[in-house]
Amino acid sequence: MTRVIVVSSDFSNLHIILPAADALRHGELVAFPTETVYGLGANALDSAAVAKIFIAKGRPATDPLIVHLNNAQQVSKIARLEDPLLAEQVQMLASNFWPGPLTLVLPKQPTIPSNVTAGRDTVGVRVPAHPIAQALLRYARVPVAAPSANRFSHPSPTQALHVYTDLGERIEWLIDGGPTFIGIESTVLDMTQSPPTVLRPGGVTIEALRQIIPSITYTPRVIQDDEAAAGPGMSLKHYAPKTPLYLIEGKDEEVIKLIKREIAQRVGQRIGILAPDSIASILDDPTLFILALGNTPESIAARLYTAIRDLDAAALDVIFALHIKGEGVLIAIRDRLFRAAEGKIITSH
Ligand code: TXA
Ligand code: MG
Repeated sequence: MTRVIVVSSDFSNLHIILPAADALRHGELVAFPTETVYGLGANALDSAAVAKIFIAKGRPATDPLIVHLNNAQQVSKIARLEDPLLAEQVQMLASNFWPGPLTLVLPKQPTIPSNVTAGRDTVGVRVPAHPIAQALLRYARVPVAAPSANRFSHPSPTQALHVYTDLGERIEWLIDGGPTFIGIESTVLDMTQSPPTVLRPGGVTIEALRQIIPSITYTPRVIQDDEAAAGPGMSLKHYAPKTPLYLIEGKDEEVIKLIKREIAQRVGQRIGILAPDSIASILDDPTLFILALGNTPESIAARLYTAIRDLDAAALDVIFALHIKGEGVLIAIRDRLFRAAEGKIITSH
């Protein structure tokens, strides 16, 4: 049976997670909120516990996990930082972005079990900022390997209910800390490549990273599902809902014209719409299932996965995501939507 611990919304009763932290240290799986999405945690030094993560998620053993630490000083226990330039860059990134939504891929220490890193000689490391994640890591006194707490290829969970829906009785503990703050996953930055390369855009923007290391590169790219997982987490289907989803992109007027044309061709169908408030308010059609995501990149990120899950549960024929593109966090949001759409885009040119 899954034990659920509900933390109060002001996080004033964090001590109630102590039994979960003890169980985590002793090999049980604990789902917990981070500032990005909920994670499914296991003691990163216990390969049998880590193996249970892959089974619970239905995740391929080729996809490595992120190791979560309580503070940046512990990084050298997990990662090898003998290279002075690497040590200096990690120190600068850590002091600017940790705790926070940045994962660094670094050369691994031999003490990390090979199933954590899917047999690679690198390890992803991050210090999360959420008070519950921090308390859990502090009480557990071990590094915690944690992927997002969803079934493989489902959208990441941003509420405890999403975790329960996906993983239900497959996990021993679920800490309910309410909705997560950011709503999309951490930025994954590979420090073992030269120049350092963003593998997954996320909560820390590429612009912000380049303020610290100007040479950082990012090339949006997608591998086919039958290719070897060169960049794990890059597969097109990664965030796909069951309902077919299309991106509609262009200038505001074009997007409105295109969606009206789509609607006209789909008489009698149940149509879902994901859009910023500015576009959603223009559509104003009572037969559509419209989820307005707000107008700032932050509100769109925070609502995105819940909106995709809600629309996917509404037995729709199709979902259209309208005009959600731009700089900063919008780069990460567009990346997730592109994957949710499995690459299907409608534009006027
Ligand atoms: O915000 C987040 O990052 C959340 C919270 C729970 O921390 N975690 C998360 O984990 O999204 P996951 O496993 O769903 O995604 C981690 C991504 C995957 O695409 C994985 O392949 C990549 O990071 N990754 C982890 N270790 C890696 C490594 N050594 N080399 C390359 N990519 C790595
Ligand atoms: Mg994931």
